[in-house]
Amino acid sequence: MTIARLSAFSVLAAATLTLTACGPTNPPSEVGSAENSASQTIVPSERFFTADQFTYANYQDVVVNHAALDLDVDFDRKVLDGAVTLQFTRLDPNATTLVLDTKDLLIKAVALETDDGWMPTDYTLADPDPMMGSAMRIDIGADASQLRIIYQTSPEAEGLQWLTPAQTAGKEKPYLFSQAQAINARTMLPVQDTPAVRLTYEASLRVPEGLLPLMSASQDGQDANGNWQFSMPQPIPSYLIAIAVGDIKFKAINDTIGVYAEEYILDASAEEFAETPMMEVANTALYGPYRWGRYDLIVLPPSFPYGGMENPRLSFMTPTLIAGDKSLTNVVAHELAHSWSGNLVTNSNWRDAWLNEGFTSYVENRVMEELYGKRRAVMEQVLDLEGMKRAISEAKRPELTHLKLPDDMQHPDDAFTLVSYIKGANFLFFLEDRFGREAFDPFLKSYFNAYAFDSITTEDFLGFMDANLRNTYPNAVTDAEIAAWVYGPGLPDTARKPKSDAFDEVAAASARWTSGDITASELPTDDWSTHEWLHFLNGLPTLTQAQFKALDEAFGLTGTQNAETAFAWYMQAIKGDYEPAMPALEEFLMTVGRGKFIYRLYGALADNGKADTADRIFATAKDGYHPIAQRRISDILEE
Ligand code: BES
Ligand code: ZN
Repeated sequence: MTIARLSAFSVLAAATLTLTACGPTNPPSEVGSAENSASQTIVPSERFFTADQFTYANYQDVVVNHAALDLDVDFDRKVLDGAVTLQFTRLDPNATTLVLDTKDLLIKAVALETDDGWMPTDYTLADPDPMMGSAMRIDIGADASQLRIIYQTSPEAEGLQWLTPAQTAGKEKPYLFSQAQAINARTMLPVQDTPAVRLTYEASLRVPEGLLPLMSASQDGQDANGNWQFSMPQPIPSYLIAIAVGDIKFKAINDTIGVYAEEYILDASAEEFAETPMMEVANTALYGPYRWGRYDLIVLPPSFPYGGMENPRLSFMTPTLIAGDKSLTNVVAHELAHSWSGNLVTNSNWRDAWLNEGFTSYVENRVMEELYGKRRAVMEQVLDLEGMKRAISEAKRPELTHLKLPDDMQHPDDAFTLVSYIKGANFLFFLEDRFGREAFDPFLKSYFNAYAFDSITTEDFLGFMDANLRNTYPNAVTDAEIAAWVYGPGLPDTARKPKSDAFDEVAAASARWTSGDITASELPTDDWSTHEWLHFLNGLPTLTQAQFKALDEAFGLTGTQNAETAFAWYMQAIKGDYEPAMPALEEFLMTVGRGKFIYRLYGALADNGKADTADRIFATAKDGYHPIAQRRISDILEE
């Protein structure tokens, strides 16, 4: 990377931080304005900048703009071992301390670049907090702008899963992959682990012979010493730093898009995701250029705890998407959409997670509509709404159903419920319906441009909308309507009410079967896609054992290879005590680590008098799960 480029980004990142720290560019003049007393009572007085409560970093005083990693990937000790060089800028010219986030890191030495060369400098590590880790306070003197930390990670790092060869499909070589979102980058490196700070990064990695390392960065090949080189020239938040190392192969989809996976699933993955280029075209047509160079996908081992993770240039994907019929590709549309919503324009605080996930779920659905038509897009809207209504009814407190989340969440993971995703998307559907696509689409495109490579709050978005959309169409929406969506609980009654004829037919057929008018094999399932099956299974009343058996015999649901259908069926089987499904459920829990499925399956077992079964399966399955999933399931089973 050239020096000129680097300093340009440093200035950019510093400017971002100053802005964020002082409040939004465009104050939200409309929301909560005096003329509207209804919204005034809903809108809290604190509406602008709040510090990120999930970081110890003093990012309002000093900001780290660039990290250069130099690491051994040591599979024997299950550690990353080496050094990170950090470049920083003082926003407060008098600041002499840099505070970083660390968690479970072994710090060996810290040096500062001075006029006399690299010199050791003083630092302290605070007592660790179980969630936040340890604040690392470093003396940065008065003039330095670069420091180096020699460190290694812990085998227990929550952001890293180290798989033994036996835990991989190929069985011969080990595998490592990371998951930094929300606050696990600090288990990989000392960093300002808040989405309010953006940094560029580069890396030099040493890995055992025969393994391929990948990062959320440009893959720049091996240097003369065999070290693998990576560079991410666009400034990103720390949660997008990512690494995967394994016996990984590549298959191109086109010149700029391809798939990485273990050999056993490579061809199937390239086939399943063959429409990714069309998604990128649709996304670009709606919201402007893709700004990250290549876009690749990596299909990870089944213990990956998410459906997908939007690591820039290289989305991480669960193998449970490889259904064989492209029916689950909305997750690709979702992770790709994050290249605009989330990675380009980022929530600066996890309280604003809907800016990432709600916008992305909205863009995902628009892209699905472009590619596959309204019928499929509407089915996905209906399925999502059903899930979200359940999430709202299960919320531990009403504030957790606001789009702007409260400032006292227990853990940033609490921000990632279907409220952020689907209530967020539905707020944008509401705005789209009121302003019309002709106005709303160009507006969103201008939003992605205006805040490109910036980290912002909900109020920045609302202010931008006031100044660039509502000013032209002052009567399209009221302050009170917006406030109800953003600062109020539940789903406002102004929400779009999607109607799917396909699902109406499914519901009618289901009613005829449950009332005994037709047999299971007479259900008109020939044309059903995964979506119709999910609507059918999720909507079933409590079945008799005979009904379970009839469905299972007609359609072979127990043991089905489509993970979404399998999950919906096992949820019913647990609730209805359908024993014949239990061995296949156990097999599913032993092989699949995707949180969306397994958290609810364990929860359902525990809630339906099968806590012993849940404990027994977890005891054996646990070692194969990602550390994040281990923590979450332990919490669920302890409740
Ligand atoms: N960014 C999320 C994954 C995530 C959430 C990581 C919370 C860490 C904490 C990703 O973009 C995502 O939303 N994945 C979804 C798929 C989507 C189609 C709803 C998932 O994992 O199921
Ligand atoms: Zn997402």
